[in-house]
Amino acid sequence: MSDFHVYEPAAGHGLRHDPLNAIIAPRPIGWISSRGADGVANLAPYSFFNAFNYKPPIIGFASTGWKDSVRNIEATGEFAWNLVTRALGPAMNASSAPVPPSVDEFTLAGLTAAPCRHIAAPRVAESPVAFECRLTQLIRLTDAAGGAIDTWLVLGEVITVHIRTDLLTDGVYDTLKGDPLLRGGGPADYFTLGERVQMLRPGA
Ligand SMILES: Cc1cc2nc3c(=O)[nH]c(=O)nc-3n(C[C@H](O)[C@H](O)[C@H](O)COP(=O)(O)O)c2cc1C
Repeated sequence: MSDFHVYEPAAGHGLRHDPLNAIIAPRPIGWISSRGADGVANLAPYSFFNAFNYKPPIIGFASTGWKDSVRNIEATGEFAWNLVTRALGPAMNASSAPVPPSVDEFTLAGLTAAPCRHIAAPRVAESPVAFECRLTQLIRLTDAAGGAIDTWLVLGEVITVHIRTDLLTDGVYDTLKGDPLLRGGGPADYFTLGERVQMLRPGA
């Protein structure tokens, strides 16, 4: 017979560390670039991030608190997503510093801001993949009782995709070659990709 540690989050987890982020892991990182209404560029990582639709492509991230990225995206209706590779990990980490909106995290992290095609927000020139996005919904989350919480879900339609061509093999995007850095739990855990496992859906 197996034992389980069972807890109700509202009453505390009863462990040394909250296991949630270590269980829902590894997570892709939403490295989000935006521009303030005042023109200052902004860049920050969000690991409460994923893709939610294929056609049109919709991606989203959640900000715990009304952070600069959310403020900029609400003001301009635009943002870009940039792939964090293993090599870009230190720069991604540097861009998460809690600095005032007047600070451009591209400069802070030693990165180059490249222009996007359709939006004023810059993308990270050093990143091999970037998506230009237009805000579709900005949703304040609620708890199960319907009470508003200070977390904001930003959803955007991907309107332009930039892929460095060396990541395309015979027209197929090579996820392993992209070498994404993925977020784990705790203050410092990240993962990189291991083995590729293939499985077709029933009937495919
Ligand atoms: C790997 C990583 C993942 C993060 N994920 C989130 C997240 O999902 N939501 C969030 O609110 N903050 C997250 N943070 C913290 C933000 O990056 C940090 O608060 C940052 O200063 C926000 O920047 P901004 O105010 O320019 O938007 C993360 C930090 C790191 C290093």
